[in-house]
Amino acid sequence: MSTESNKIVRVTTHVLQEMKLRRIKISMLTAYDYSIAKIIDQAGIDVILVGDSAATVMAGYQSTLPITLNEMIYHAGSVVKAVKRALVVVDLPFGTYQGNSKEALSSAIRIMKETGAHAIKIEGGAEISESITRILTAGIPVMGHLGLTPQSIHKFGTYVVRAREKDEAEKLLEDSHVLQNLGCFAIVLEKIPSALGKQVAGELKIPVVGIGAGSGVDGQVLVLHDMLGITQDFSPRFLRRYLHLSEEINSAVQHYINDVKTGDFPNEKEQY
Ligand code: KIV
Repeated sequence: MSTESNKIVRVTTHVLQEMKLRRIKISMLTAYDYSIAKIIDQAGIDVILVGDSAATVMAGYQSTLPITLNEMIYHAGSVVKAVKRALVVVDLPFGTYQGNSKEALSSAIRIMKETGAHAIKIEGGAEISESITRILTAGIPVMGHLGLTPQSIHKFGTYVVRAREKDEAEKLLEDSHVLQNLGCFAIVLEKIPSALGKQVAGELKIPVVGIGAGSGVDGQVLVLHDMLGITQDFSPRFLRRYLHLSEEINSAVQHYINDVKTGDFPNEKEQY
C-alpha cells in the first residue's frame, strides 16, 4: 500500500498531474452504485469511473451504445454520494456529444450539475475537437479515450487490439497530442500495443491511464465487475481477476437456499 497515496486527502486533476510528474502510478476502477463506490473509495482508489460499461455489466446490453444520459446520471449521482477521496469521472454516453458541440456541452453540464461529479470522459480524437473545446470552455475537466473506443464498435466490427498497423498508430499518437493541446487533463488508452502506450505516455505531459495498454503508461483502469470475477464470459489477456465472486456468490446463495428449505434459517437467535 503506497504511503504517498494515503496522504492525499482529495484527488483532483492537479493531484493526478503531480502523480505523473512524480512517477506515482494512478489507480482507477469503475463503479456504478453507492455501496461499491464507498468500498473502493475507502480502499484508496485514485479515480472512480462511472463508465458507460454500466450498459453491459449493470443493464445486460450487448454493447455500451444503448445507455442513456439519464441512466448515466442516475449511476453517477449514486457514486458521488459515497465518495470522499477519489476523483469521480463520468462517461458521456453514445449520441450525446458526437457531431453537435452544443449538445455535448449541455450533456456535460447535466452530468456535472445533477450528479456532483468532477469530470467527464469522452471517446474520440480530432473529430470531436469542437465538442471537447466547448465543454472545456465551461470549466468542465475532460478525460479523453483513444484506441479501442467501445462506442464505435460497429465501425470497428470487432474488439481486437487497435493500432497495430502503422497508420492507425500514427493517427492515435497524433490524436493524443490533439487531446492534450485542447486541454484534456488525462487520457485513457484502451487495448493497444504496449510499446505504443509507452510512447504516448512518454510524449505527453498529461497522465495516460491504460486498459490493455501495457505497463509503460501512468496508471491502470479496469472494469470492477471484471477484476472481481463477477462477469464470467470475458477474459481478455489484459484482465487480472483478483476475486472469483461469481463462484462465491453462487455458493453463498446455494447455502442460503438450503438453510431456508431445511428450516435451519432463521435459528433461535435470528428471530424476535
Ligand atoms: O466504460 C468503461 O468502463 C470504460 C473503461 C473500459 C475505461 O470506458
